[in-house]
Amino acid sequence: MEYPLVRMRRYRKSEAVRDLVAEVRLSPDDLIYPIFVREDGKTGEIPSMPGQRYQSVESAVELVGELLDRGLRAFILFGIPREKDPEGRVAADQEGVVQRTVRALKEEYGDEIVVITDVCLCQYTTHGHCGVVDEETGRVLNDPTVERLVEVALSHAEAGADVVAPSDMMDGRVKAIREALESEGFEDVLIMAYSAKYHSAFYGPFRDAAESAPRFGDRSTYQMDPRCLRQALRELELDAREGADILMVKPAMPYLDVVREARRRFDLPIAAYQVSGEYAMIKAAAERGYVEYEAAVLESLVCIKRAGADLILTYFAPEVVEWLE
Ligand code: PBG
Repeated sequence: MEYPLVRMRRYRKSEAVRDLVAEVRLSPDDLIYPIFVREDGKTGEIPSMPGQRYQSVESAVELVGELLDRGLRAFILFGIPREKDPEGRVAADQEGVVQRTVRALKEEYGDEIVVITDVCLCQYTTHGHCGVVDEETGRVLNDPTVERLVEVALSHAEAGADVVAPSDMMDGRVKAIREALESEGFEDVLIMAYSAKYHSAFYGPFRDAAESAPRFGDRSTYQMDPRCLRQALRELELDAREGADILMVKPAMPYLDVVREARRRFDLPIAAYQVSGEYAMIKAAAERGYVEYEAAVLESLVCIKRAGADLILTYFAPEVVEWLE
């Protein structure tokens, strides 16, 4: 059958029909909200990410309570420590800002919320790289970094994190973390692996926010080359085999082909991270009146879902749950 008997516009004749045949929907259940917690307790707007605020341990607990009332239940924590050192030792400290926040959140809200922690060293190292750096060559050393990441992940699990999310892109870290969690009695802790994490210019605002920009060189020897898709599939495959529970693609919008392909090939939940630069672009364009804010945000998120993501990490989450009400 074809035109005139087939008329595609019939599907679009009213909002009710459009809603009936819609293929994906946004739900607060699918959103993960990133929270930046400062050890020095300073709150206030994050200059590079207008609309986002720094939290203290106490204000984070308050914020999560408000968002929980609005239906948002999953949060990922990024810590901004007072002190850094070359090996990022503080990252695994039980009195560190992330560990304290996890404990406070779980104490207050228990299993009503999902607490996810970003497992990385870059906010904690003086040089700003995501791992242990060889002093002579300046290269990030894989295996010594994995050892450190295991300590960090364990410290988060011990504090009560539901999910640990390694974002460093070292080889073998998922396996090492999975085995350590298993042997230390944290077999219920999920691993959400930043599996296909690209070396992206779209992390700019985050690095200012988290004070984690590398002091020398860049992250191109560990994060993925934007020109590669097949390599991303291998990264995803390896993390799945090493015991990841959720696979992530990051950034989202410029990498929807990767999200699509990940969805096709794996039966694990797929997460996509709409990163700080994506947030900033929409914000800035809307502020100038180039795009309509709410419509552009919702479209960006729906399209990430349509590409195949089950979960989306997004700075827009609090506004979105309000709009969806
Ligand atoms: C830490 C980390 C980064 C982001 C999440 N975890 C920064 C980076 O890799 O440079 C980026 C998040 C964003 O841009 O919103 N490794």
